[in-house]
Amino acid sequence: MKIFHSTAEYFPFIKVGGLSDMLSSFSRFQAKENEVSVALPLLSHMEDRISFSGKEFKCIRQSDNYGSDASMILSKSRFLHTRLHGVDIYFFQSPIFQKYSSIYGNSDELFSFAIFSYACHHLSILLKADIIHAHDWHTSLSIYLSAKSGNPKSKVFTIHNLAYQGDHPYWMTQFLRLDPFYIRMESLDNLGKVNYMKGAILSADEITTVSPGYREEVLSEPAGCHLAWLLNDRKDSFTGIMNGIDEHEWNPEVDSKIFLNYNKDTAEQGKYENKLRLYHEQGLHVDMERPMVGIVSRLTYQKGFETFLDAFVNRIHLPFYYFVLGTGDENLEEAFFYHSHHNQQKLYFFKGFNETLARKIEAASDFFLMPSLFEPCGLNQLYSHAYGSIPIVSRVGGLKDSVHESDLIEYKTGFVFEPNDSSSLGYALERASSTYYNKNEFNQIRKNIMSLDWGWKKSTEKYHELYARSMKGII
Ligand code: ADP
Ligand code: GLC
Repeated sequence: MKIFHSTAEYFPFIKVGGLSDMLSSFSRFQAKENEVSVALPLLSHMEDRISFSGKEFKCIRQSDNYGSDASMILSKSRFLHTRLHGVDIYFFQSPIFQKYSSIYGNSDELFSFAIFSYACHHLSILLKADIIHAHDWHTSLSIYLSAKSGNPKSKVFTIHNLAYQGDHPYWMTQFLRLDPFYIRMESLDNLGKVNYMKGAILSADEITTVSPGYREEVLSEPAGCHLAWLLNDRKDSFTGIMNGIDEHEWNPEVDSKIFLNYNKDTAEQGKYENKLRLYHEQGLHVDMERPMVGIVSRLTYQKGFETFLDAFVNRIHLPFYYFVLGTGDENLEEAFFYHSHHNQQKLYFFKGFNETLARKIEAASDFFLMPSLFEPCGLNQLYSHAYGSIPIVSRVGGLKDSVHESDLIEYKTGFVFEPNDSSSLGYALERASSTYYNKNEFNQIRKNIMSLDWGWKKSTEKYHELYARSMKGII
């Protein structure tokens, strides 16, 4: 099967969040038995780091070009090829992205992602893909355009986060009416706005999201973010499939970025050593007997840190030491800096995006906290399982699907509390704390989580059943 993914993020080239890890681990797994291609934008700083194969592809069909601005840009753009871990990667080299060093938040992103989406649609035809599989609003129009032209025949769209839809007033994207798009914009309308994501949900053969729990949630408002009605219309073709992780990439036994490798038999000593050296590296003097709670996150509304900060203050007497790595909303950064300064013996904040430190924190933590208000899947709770850091999570989306606070100790894989409820979080912290001092119980839970299999095998099979369905007997 020839599978073509269009995406805004792909590890290790562009990473803002979990979309990047998901796409690279998933496509590598698929590539074991399929011909897999991925298209992503080429940003200014990336060009020198990549060795291209020399293969190049055009980005626009001649018959679509009547000289609009969008067409002109596409004529000056091309796809450059490289191959990594069995996956063919096509970088969209274009004047529209080359001026930027970050993928999101650029002032012309409605324009640039529409152009990229057209180019992806075109490339998927040149590569004779059986399936075009697009991810989130940035590449939604590649599904819409494929449906319009009937090529590739099979179109799959994955929602990683319904909160971002690329919706905007009509006047901002009048270019969509012209070449090379020729889109009737009214078909993208949701509540009087043009909505890119709606275009994909409407026209994909199959729609997926990244956990069964999140699928259920978004079928009602407010989690449906004003698109629950459409998802309900398309309910029979809408599936929740849990993300997997790359078990070689995120494996404490071989991870070269952590201080000391370990596995489930050597976790106690291994994690102690990682914690010791992490504190030392950061110049922190913390009693090693105290439990460390790791936090690695984008600091945005979604992630629920207001709830945490409340619970933190209310349960300041608990013995935890919180090690926080993150960047994002200024008010959250300020709040973390405040506590890092005024409660030095309780919390440490490292502002930034740092892949190596993220792994060191996973290796060093006793617990890992994710207080999200909503969470389509979440990868860090899965990484935490692999690294033996017991997750403390809110009961939402993919978190509730993957972390179970069972009464039976041999099935317990973390602690769960109600979202947006600081008392419930505070109580979960108390349960975690008493478990920490019950060594048998603590070690048993750590063993449970390190034995879990979050690899891609099962989920890839589900995607492939769905691909087969979308090809309606073509294979
Ligand atoms: P989301 O995609 O909503 O941010 P996920 O849990 O799916 O949430 O994925 C987040 C990914 O981004 C994880 O791999 C996590 O380690 C990484 N990450 C988030 N913030 C940071 C940071 N400040 N530094 C390093 N890695 C980070
Ligand atoms: C999004 C979601 C996150 C999910 C990731 C990968 O960024 O916020 O929950 O894990 O996509 O699918």
